[in-house]
Amino acid sequence: MVSQYVYPAAPIDKSALAGSLQVFGHSVMLPRAAYVDPAVFAWEQQHFFGSGWTCVGLSSQLPEAGDQRAESAGAGSVLLTRDDQGELHAFANTCRHRGHELLPCGAGAQRNAVICPYHSWTYSLSGELRFASGFKERDGFDRSAWGLVELPLAEWHGLIFVDGSGQAPSLGDSLRVLDGLVAPYEPERLVVAGRHEYDAAANWKILTENYHECYHCPVIHPELCRVSPPKSGENYPAQGTWVGGWMDLRDGMDTMSLDGTSLGVPLRGLDATGLRTVIYVNIFPNVLLSLHPDYVMTHRLVPLAADRTFIECTWAFAPEALDNPGFEPGYAVEFWDITNQQDWRACESVQRGLSSEHALPGPLSPDEDAVYQFVTMVARGYLGEPVWNPGRKAAAAG
Ligand code: FES
Ligand SMILES: [Fe+2]
Repeated sequence: MVSQYVYPAAPIDKSALAGSLQVFGHSVMLPRAAYVDPAVFAWEQQHFFGSGWTCVGLSSQLPEAGDQRAESAGAGSVLLTRDDQGELHAFANTCRHRGHELLPCGAGAQRNAVICPYHSWTYSLSGELRFASGFKERDGFDRSAWGLVELPLAEWHGLIFVDGSGQAPSLGDSLRVLDGLVAPYEPERLVVAGRHEYDAAANWKILTENYHECYHCPVIHPELCRVSPPKSGENYPAQGTWVGGWMDLRDGMDTMSLDGTSLGVPLRGLDATGLRTVIYVNIFPNVLLSLHPDYVMTHRLVPLAADRTFIECTWAFAPEALDNPGFEPGYAVEFWDITNQQDWRACESVQRGLSSEHALPGPLSPDEDAVYQFVTMVARGYLGEPVWNPGRKAAAAG
């Protein structure tokens, strides 16, 4: 049987979406409900984050056999395990007995079995039920029928994605073009040496839209503008499941840091262009991947409510940089922590502004073509067109 990856339209005024889907230069932003309405948020949790490919962490967070983590995915959560063969698994984070979470969301464990904290049902790292107290004596109890519910998992350059629908098309196929841009950075080889968690009082799409434009940079990012001209670079042609572009470094600047100096080492796979640019890409729905000459910064967005988003930000460097005595990741972490906080403040203000019933969708500037690509992807998703669909054609920003 051929499974079909389909979902229903979102509970949002279809005619209001028509304005967002006009050609670039004539379109407007998403309707206000997309940012403030709990019903739209619940739909997004189910259909954007709970089905299709969602990033639930980094492979390096589970380096050893027996490592386990639970991470949010839509309205529920997934349990990740690494088995004795070194393979990663994703399971619905719910016990087959009476549904207790196997690990609290955001927590990790290291042991050779998955043990439910409620009545100690015990599963192997690959999900088979091994032990259920008291059931041994019960006639006809077939342990093999009560294993954990496994979900498709894909690793892509050190990121772990899970498909809650079990029916999304291949992640690799959907990201094939992006793969050519990302592969030279070898993110899977890099070592995370900086990590920040943020809790922003803003809708996840406001954070993403903000990431996709530097129209605001001259106004709120003086540090960024010192090292990278805000008008530089271009966006890549629309690809459907990811959106992004690149920017230049100013002459004399080696990377994005407060003085443009790198205290790391250039990534070994980059050509001359890669050493003079920074690539910014958003993999739908929740990864912002920023590729620098000497480090990779990854934001993973976890929506908590229509007006609240948890953000995990990591900075990864070449292992040979960490081998240098005295290596300190702060040059990159501090720069982006300042910039991140400038962004979150702006996004939180947008959220407050959109809480006004008088807020109406505004037009996009010529510098906001990547915002347009993202907005049209979301709008078409709201209309019931699955984003993770290799056949889908993205709107051209023209
Ligand atoms: S709910 Fe897990 S053992 Fe009872
Ligand atoms: Fe910004």
